[in-house]
Amino acid sequence: MRLCRDACALLIVLVWSWTLPGAASAQASTIEQRVDDLLSRMTIEEKVGQLVQYTGFSESTAEAIREGRVGSLLNVVGAENTNRVQRLAVEESRLGIPLLFGLDVIHGYRTVFPIPLATASSWDPELVTSLEAIAAREARAAGVHWTFAPMIDIARDPRWGRIVEGAGEDPYLGAVMAAARVRGFQGDDVAAPNRILACLKHYVAYGAPVGGRDYNSVDMSERSLREIYLPPYKAGVDAGAATLMSAFNLLNGVPTTANAFTLNGILRGEWGFDGFIVSDWNSIGELIAHGYAADAKDAARLALEATIDMDMMGGIYAGQLADLVRANVVPEALLDESVRRVLRAKFSLGLFEHPYADSATEAAVLLREDHVAAAREAARRSMVLLKNDGGLLPLADDIGSIAVIGPLADSPVDLLGSWFAQGRAEDGVSVLAGIRSRAGSRAAVTYAPGSTITGPERDGFAEAVAIARRADVAIVVVGERGMETGEAASRTELELPGVQQDLIEAVYETGTPIVAVVMSGRPLTIPWLAEYVPAILQAWHPGIQGGNAVADLLWGDANPSGKLPVTFPRSVGQIPIYYSHDITGRPRAEENRFTSKYIDSPNTPLYPFGHGLSYTTFEYGDLVLSTDTVAPHGTIEVSATVTNTGGVAGVEIVQLYIRDPVASVVRPVKELEGFTRVSLDPGERQAVRFSLGPRELGFYNQDMQWVVEPGEFLVWIGWNSDEGLEGRFVVAGD
Ligand code: NOJ
Repeated sequence: MRLCRDACALLIVLVWSWTLPGAASAQASTIEQRVDDLLSRMTIEEKVGQLVQYTGFSESTAEAIREGRVGSLLNVVGAENTNRVQRLAVEESRLGIPLLFGLDVIHGYRTVFPIPLATASSWDPELVTSLEAIAAREARAAGVHWTFAPMIDIARDPRWGRIVEGAGEDPYLGAVMAAARVRGFQGDDVAAPNRILACLKHYVAYGAPVGGRDYNSVDMSERSLREIYLPPYKAGVDAGAATLMSAFNLLNGVPTTANAFTLNGILRGEWGFDGFIVSDWNSIGELIAHGYAADAKDAARLALEATIDMDMMGGIYAGQLADLVRANVVPEALLDESVRRVLRAKFSLGLFEHPYADSATEAAVLLREDHVAAAREAARRSMVLLKNDGGLLPLADDIGSIAVIGPLADSPVDLLGSWFAQGRAEDGVSVLAGIRSRAGSRAAVTYAPGSTITGPERDGFAEAVAIARRADVAIVVVGERGMETGEAASRTELELPGVQQDLIEAVYETGTPIVAVVMSGRPLTIPWLAEYVPAILQAWHPGIQGGNAVADLLWGDANPSGKLPVTFPRSVGQIPIYYSHDITGRPRAEENRFTSKYIDSPNTPLYPFGHGLSYTTFEYGDLVLSTDTVAPHGTIEVSATVTNTGGVAGVEIVQLYIRDPVASVVRPVKELEGFTRVSLDPGERQAVRFSLGPRELGFYNQDMQWVVEPGEFLVWIGWNSDEGLEGRFVVAGD
């Protein structure tokens, strides 16, 4: 009966789609009817079951699935595995509601791409969308319906290991990347066999824990929340993200997993988000540990009231909700709303029609040739050339000998970075392998690791120094392990781990020119490198094609174009440091002690947000403003020309910043409000044009209303957050 009913419903959907205009809304109303129908046939236990998520698969889970007490599993992957488990739900449970399989597909499924912080360095939303589309294709083929991504938490503290998963420090860039990733995962229709549900996480402000320590509490003004931490979420919601994950942290004393202000108020109320919300791992249970809920019953009620629809691994909903509904502590209607949201997602995925994955498709798409090629292109576009003194790079084609040194030079597993889903070390091309393959027989390549990544041993230094001495150039690959980044990987020191700093200094003593390739999941503090090493390539954790991409860039087969999405501090003591800071009443003045500064360090960063070099040079000129006075609700066009004045083709990421120098609430010294990628041949010139209107020029006043205040504004079109052409205009009074 059930199969017949669902098949008939499908037929109706198809007929409607073919015959009626407004097919999408017809489909939506059909989904609503199917949800209503299903809901009317569910027991309270079955309803609660839809809100329960467990990890992995065991015999006790099998029993629970058969009894309709599980709605979703995480960390079960592969067409064969997921099908085996899915059969229990579809064929052996009373109502046959399919399970939703979720996984952290953070930067690729089997084809592992550069970490998200790296792909944000491409400033290329189309690229990012295309990578997530590949990740979605591979994951869906392997039976995964739902990724716990994108992580869109703004992070201004590189001590926090999860900075690796986001787009860095800036709300504008963060919002662009959030929308791009959602589009990539979900496409236009998540029912397509190559799409998965996206999940915006971790709502909210999880990226600002006190001291950079993961899971720690967050205390911030509503202004910072709205201006800095919420914009990526709003962009993700507007892009149609189907789901969202609450966070572990307290926000101003209230856990984000039961926060009526941010969940019921802003997310559901102001923004109208109607997708489903999953808790983070046991974050409902942790309401008790936080000292917010008295016991499990209290935790379940508080979370459900805050519209948390699914309990990830907490066991709190499973243990408490049915009793709470029966005791009238929680209205059944509230439970129904959550169940509806989960069922809607399952229907929208087409899971009732196609609950199973196809092993043949899985085998065909994982690591497909074009996916691997995309990983290489992504890595090329994600790396940032921080320094290139004397044109050391690109390497000459006739270079005779290359010493490859460093513990990360031949460590494929560390290419993968944090959260690498089904990635495998054996898929990775290390930097050494990439260099060897590019050098071929033309250059002699020698290799010595020199040290381990974190250990104290220096036994390998002598060999590293010896090969450096004999070489024309030393490529020294240093940084942090993939697993030293990500969740629960906060650090108090951001120097090169172990004895890598000493290793590179020993190599430096040989006098052989050094190119440092830094692999990391966060900005490291590398002031010595910045001063003494002539060329530095920030490679991040670059994914399986990282080694080939490094070689492409070292030889100039590709021209670096990445720009930093996050400020590089000189020392941990400067953190938090970000370009978009407020100005103090006592800005730093060298000659005056009583100004805002450190007595042992400059205020300025090592490398500013937006910085990144190329093998060509770009000249900016002709800054033109369409008017010098704009109405408060009008728009102004700002344009400039960019010319490739160097010898090779290159891509420049042109950035637009503004400042409102006098306002009723003091504005940051600069705010990014636009960017564009310009691809130019040598000698070629292109005009770039940006529009500034109320969205860009406004801010939240003291009453939290969005206003554009009259007065002078500054605008820059530039090549990083510190340098550019400056213009001025006035916003007229009403
Ligand atoms: C906890 C992490 O905070 C979250 O990002 C992740 O999605 C879940 N674990 C599931 O792995």
